[in-house]
Order: sequence, then structure tokens, then C-alpha cells
Amino acid sequence: MSKSPSTLLHQHHLHFLLFILVLFHVPSYRADGGGTWLMLLPNIGISAMHMQLLPNDRVVIFDRTDFGTSNISLPDGKCRPNSDDCSAHSVEYDVAKNTVRPLMVLSNVWCSSGSLMPDGTLVQTGGNDFGGLVVRVYDSCDTCDWVEIPNGLAQPRWYATNHKLPDGRQIVIGGRDTFTYEFFPKTPEANTAVDFPFLVETNDPNMENNLYPFVHLYPDGNLFIFANNRAIFFDYVNNKVVKTFPIIPGDEPRNYPSTGSGVLLPMKIVNGSVDVIEFLVCGGARRSAFFNAFNNVFEKGLDTCGRIVISDPDPQWVMETMPMARVMGDMLLLPNGDVLIINGVSAGVAGWELGRDPVLSPVIYRPNNPIESRFEVQTSATIPRVYHSTAILLRDGRVLVGGSNAHDKYEFSETTLYPTELSLEEFSPFYLDSSVSGLRPVIISPVTGSKFGYGNRIGINFAASDNLDPNSVTVTLLAPSFNTHSYSMNQRLLVLDSDIPTTDPETSNYWVCATMPPSGNIAPLGDYILFVVHKEIPSEGIWIHIE
Ligand SMILES: *[C@@H]1O[C@H](CO)[C@@H](O)[C@H](O)[C@H]1NC(C)=O
Ligand SMILES: *[C@@H]1O[C@H](CO)[C@@H](O)[C@H](O)[C@H]1NC(C)=O
Repeated sequence: MSKSPSTLLHQHHLHFLLFILVLFHVPSYRADGGGTWLMLLPNIGISAMHMQLLPNDRVVIFDRTDFGTSNISLPDGKCRPNSDDCSAHSVEYDVAKNTVRPLMVLSNVWCSSGSLMPDGTLVQTGGNDFGGLVVRVYDSCDTCDWVEIPNGLAQPRWYATNHKLPDGRQIVIGGRDTFTYEFFPKTPEANTAVDFPFLVETNDPNMENNLYPFVHLYPDGNLFIFANNRAIFFDYVNNKVVKTFPIIPGDEPRNYPSTGSGVLLPMKIVNGSVDVIEFLVCGGARRSAFFNAFNNVFEKGLDTCGRIVISDPDPQWVMETMPMARVMGDMLLLPNGDVLIINGVSAGVAGWELGRDPVLSPVIYRPNNPIESRFEVQTSATIPRVYHSTAILLRDGRVLVGGSNAHDKYEFSETTLYPTELSLEEFSPFYLDSSVSGLRPVIISPVTGSKFGYGNRIGINFAASDNLDPNSVTVTLLAPSFNTHSYSMNQRLLVLDSDIPTTDPETSNYWVCATMPPSGNIAPLGDYILFVVHKEIPSEGIWIHIE
């Protein structure tokens, strides 16, 4: 999404307005970069360690099951089998109603992973102890609950990463002491775990630094996998490393427990292909930070991001400096192509009691701005979101923020450093501000839930109350991701090939024609959120299904 001069001008104008507002009108919660925080629910009964938005606008949330009772009871007086724990460790959040409903998850889902399947069900894998081999399926409805498949995996996986594949399966990669990958569902040809030496090579002795690897499907069908300090292109069909990328400058680790985060920057589809593909990794902790944290010395985290054009024949890292250091920050792609960096701490590493100095200010990274002006510090939160916190984007553009528990059980005492957080908050980026509502497109058709095939040309009818700048309209598709431990699995934002909008003479609304992604390598089958974006301001999204 390149910015036209008029867009930039417009932004300056907008920032100037915000600046004036900050000076003269608005209470202190509005910072330079904007955005507002709101408490949604002060107590959902569990600490949100894992979150996934489902295509019915509900969010399935779960913590772990093995630490004792949570603060929400199971329904109908139920208790866990052979246990006096009658509390729930998973809930379903209804975005529209702002309510939660307790769910029964049986086996231990602690530090697990997951992905939506093409039919919109969540398939979640692994966890701790006897949960390590379990696959759990959640198909949302008013009364639905988890269904568990006891030996669904070939090997136990704790801290693994999942990614949806073009054929509808998901790949499950790694896990603590599990240097292999496997697929779900199993097929007769692919039903065992396959050795993956890259995970051995990137495993720092006694501190790992390569758990929850950053995995992204690349448009040629290979996987881009970043772990610790480096990345590869990986052909998972033939178990072959196809390309090795240079080690990130500074050689510092970026994966758990030196937890940074990473995203593929928005991928612009032109004439059925994506020519420039970039990966961005931000934050993390120095290699020495893990042992130091165990000895109560909390090293400042990394304040650098590395950006690399992975589609370049000779790719090189370009380093950038964030406004502040961050460990355990989440990176979320916003509908307009910006990257939100939120949650985390500025010292220590991931793990119980090992992080210090919460970073309360989110930062927005604008990928298309000149290199020196990409970061914008946002309005600060009041609640620290340290280890085991989460963040996901909702269909209306808000960011749902939850969790934070640095302790091995729930600790609420005021003398506890960073007490367990049971709340859900929202962060609304600047684009939801009422001052820009005139620019915001409103999608009239297609309706939410519409189904399309690869390469379909679709007409999108939308309204906008302020004068439309037809040259500043884009159509984006976002894959809803599974978020845990500062990483969003399956996260991708596609900028669709679209025409310049025209005015509908009968209604004075607008039409924009856009082409659906060309293939499952660019957009695996399933559910996406479609947005029309005008001058950086996204519409509320609609769910669409690629079949
Ligand atoms: C959670 O439950 C415990 C035990 O019943 C109680 O002491 C604590 O105050 C509750 N905390 C919150 C935030 O509800
Ligand atoms: C897309 O394809 C059309 C028709 O082949 C061609 O005219 C146009 O230049 C192409 N655009 C780009 C950006 O490659």
C-alpha cells in the first residue's frame, strides 16, 4: 500500500488536529500517536493465555488446567474428572454481547498452539504433560464445547507453532525437546513426525531460544521459518531447506524465552502474484538475559527490529530502532497495513517471574513511511500485560487485549509483582476515532459470510460520508490468527488487486472491483476478514469464506 502524497498530507493534517486536541480539549488519555483504551470485562474468570477469533465473532480463550481453581465455575455444577476443581479453564467470549461462557477443556492446554481449519473450527494441539499428544477441536455454537482426540499427535508438543496449509491440513512444528514436525489431520502418507534439524541447530543449550518459531506460508508453497537468530525457506513436502537467510545483525535471539515477535508485512497482490515479500521481527532479549534473569539481574530487552525482503535474490537485513526495548510484545497486522506492537516488558525474558518493567505504550509501525519515521508511540495502558498475555484483532478493527500471569498459579495479592490479570480490555487505534468517521467506508455488499473462489472478481459496494479520494482506496483481507506467547500463528494481510472505485449513479455510493487471491499458497482455504480502507481508515470488516 504505497502512500500517495495526498495521503501523507492528509496524515499530517490529521496529526496536527490530534495535536491541537491534545493541547486544548481532550483528557490525558490521548497520547501523540492516539488510540484509546477501554475496560471490556474486569474479570472473565481466567487469565487469557491463548486466544483465537472465530468466524462467528466469538473468541475462544484458554489458560492452563493444572494449577488449581480459576475464578469462573464450570456450568451446571460440573467438576473436572477425579478432581475437586469445579472451575473452567477455557471460556468463549461473545464480542457483540461482551459476555463470556465457561467451557470444559479436559487435558492440559498449557503453552499449546492451534489454527483454524478451512471449515472455521479451531484445531488446537499439544500442551503440557498428558496434554502433549492431544488434539482438541472447538466448533463454536451457543452450547458447543471442546472435543478431544487423545492421541491426535505423533509426538508430544509444548511451545510448538502451527500453520494452515494450502491443502487444508495444518503443520505443527517443534516444541520443547521435539525437533520434528507433523501434520494434522493425519493421512496414510503423512502420519508420523519428521526430523527437522533446523530446530536442533537453532536450539541454544539450556535456554532454547527457538520455541514458538515464527512460521509463514510463502507464496511459492514453501514455509518461511525464523527461529532464534536466523531463517530458512523450508520445503515441508520433501523435508528440504531451500534457502538460508543471513543471521540477523547483532546475532541476538528473538524466540522464546528471548521472546520477540514477527510478521510478514502486508502482501500486495498484483496481476495474480506478490512480487515483494518482507518479514519484520521486533524485540527479544540478549543471549545472556535468560541466565541473568534467573540470578535476579534483569537485562534490558532488545530495542531493534530487523526487516528483510525475503523475496529478494540476495536478501539483507535492515535494522531499525524502536522507541523502547520490548520483550514479549505482540505484533498485530492492522487492517490498513500498519503493524501494532503491544504488551510485554522492557527487561528480562519470558517465563515465570523473569520479566520486569512492563511496557504500557503500544507502538504503531508504519511500513511504508520513510525509515526514520515509522514508529508512533500510542496512548499508554494502565494494566501491565507481562508473561502469558495476549492480543488479537477483532472484525471491527479494535484490538482485544487480555491475560498476563507471571506466576505458577493465580496470585491476586497487592504485594505480588504483576498480579494475575483476569480482565479483557480493548485498544482502539487512531482509525476508530470519531474525528475520522467521515472517511470510514461502510461496506454495503457483499454481506458477511459470503463465499468466493480463488481468482473471483467481486464488486464491493460501500458508502463513505466524506468526499472519497478514489486513489486512496484499498481492499484488504486478513487471516484471523491464533495468539499466544507474543506470536500470532497464521497471521497474514493481503492487499487485493482492485480497481479505482467508481460512483454508483443511483445511490451516490461507491463500487470497487477486487480480485480474490489466486491460490491457496497465498491464501489457504477458509475464513478471512475483508476491509475497505480509505486514506488509512478501514471499514468494519466482513467475514468472507474462500472455498
Ligand atoms: C479469585 O478467586 C479467589 C479465590 O476464591 C479470590 O480470593 C480472589 O479474590 C478472586 N480474584 C478475582 C480477581 O476475582
Ligand atoms: C498486469 O497485467 C496487464 C495485462 O497483462 C498489464 O498490462 C499490466 O502492465 C500488468 N501490471 C503490472 C503492475 O504488472
